[in-house]
Amino acid sequence: MPEQHFKKVFIFLDTDKHASPFDVLTTIDVFPDAAILKYEDVTVEDAGKIVYDTMFPRGPEGAKHTKIFINGRDFKRVNEILEKIKLCVFPPFELAIIVDPRGAYTTATAAVAKTLELSVEKGFGNLEGKTITVLAGTGPVGQTAGRLYASEKANVIITSRSLQRASSVATEINEEFESERARGVAAQTPEELGKAIENSEMVLSAGAAGVQLLRMETLEEYGNKCKIVADINAIPPLGVEGLKSKADGEEILSNIFGIGALAIGKLKNKIEVGLIKRAAEEPKGVFDYKIAYEIAKKRVLEKFEEKNSREAESEKHWLP
Ligand SMILES: NC(=O)c1ccc[n+]([C@@H]2O[C@H](COP(=O)([O-])OP(=O)(O)OC[C@H]3O[C@@H](n4cnc5c(N)ncnc54)[C@H](OP(=O)(O)O)[C@@H]3O)[C@@H](O)[C@H]2O)c1
Repeated sequence: MPEQHFKKVFIFLDTDKHASPFDVLTTIDVFPDAAILKYEDVTVEDAGKIVYDTMFPRGPEGAKHTKIFINGRDFKRVNEILEKIKLCVFPPFELAIIVDPRGAYTTATAAVAKTLELSVEKGFGNLEGKTITVLAGTGPVGQTAGRLYASEKANVIITSRSLQRASSVATEINEEFESERARGVAAQTPEELGKAIENSEMVLSAGAAGVQLLRMETLEEYGNKCKIVADINAIPPLGVEGLKSKADGEEILSNIFGIGALAIGKLKNKIEVGLIKRAAEEPKGVFDYKIAYEIAKKRVLEKFEEKNSREAESEKHWLP
């Protein structure tokens, strides 16, 4: 019997009323010949039923070409859906599952990778042992960035307008990494925000779209130790006053370098493409922020290797 050829199929499970066209379009551009199915307003119970009907019709071989993409603004439900699906799949009907709730995972990985890259580039070293404040780090992007910084052994300060929300995110991070690296702080006024950054070498502003969190005068007054400030809010007013969304390593105050939301967004898109391709190649597994960060970090390392080898090559020409 001739071998059956299976078309690649991506099944979007979205917790929102309308599935985000962003990720659907990104997937179509990566795999124009793939088929896309989308389910919206998906509950945890729905997800189980949909996944069982996804696993069996194409048999174990077909399942290898069938990918699930979990998406949506409801971060908690996205994670519950993932846990439910993990319980549903079993060998030999396993599937590759992509998780990127409304871009939060790929955005957070891009933001952390950009700060790491700039830190190394400017000679400040890697993230280990650095103190990093994630302003408004209670949303999906900020929480994920906090986790990634903790995974790099940085000390993380999570701020929120509510001490309870900040502390609860910090506790989750500490439990995950079995450490005391993260700390929650209530910060809303310029003075409170200033105090939250005063001992930090880096600040990532992770607030909601169109919310300014850090004023220039606060950064000037409290940012003596600060070397890098990044912002992921691309909707004016931007998260950090005076930090343009296109900024990509420019000095915004004496010895403080900035990364804006569009510079982060550009890398985010590349990481998402990498995540989709990786899940498409693998027959099974979860492709979430951890894999996204692996992809992002590899890009950063490759960039430095390329730069080093270019420099070594040009030095050779000067040698007698
Ligand atoms: N570049 C990209 O590709 C991309 C992709 C996805 C998201 N983003 C951007 O990333 C940012 C974070 O996304 P997200 O979904 O994690 O954000 P989010 O959940 O909407 O908001 C993050 C946090 O902002 C705080 N906040 C909300 N309204 C506020 C206000 N009026 N004043 C002060 N703080 C306020 C809240 O913290 P507390 O209530 O705890 O204080 C909230 O948890 C957004 O700006 C979003 O547009 C960018």
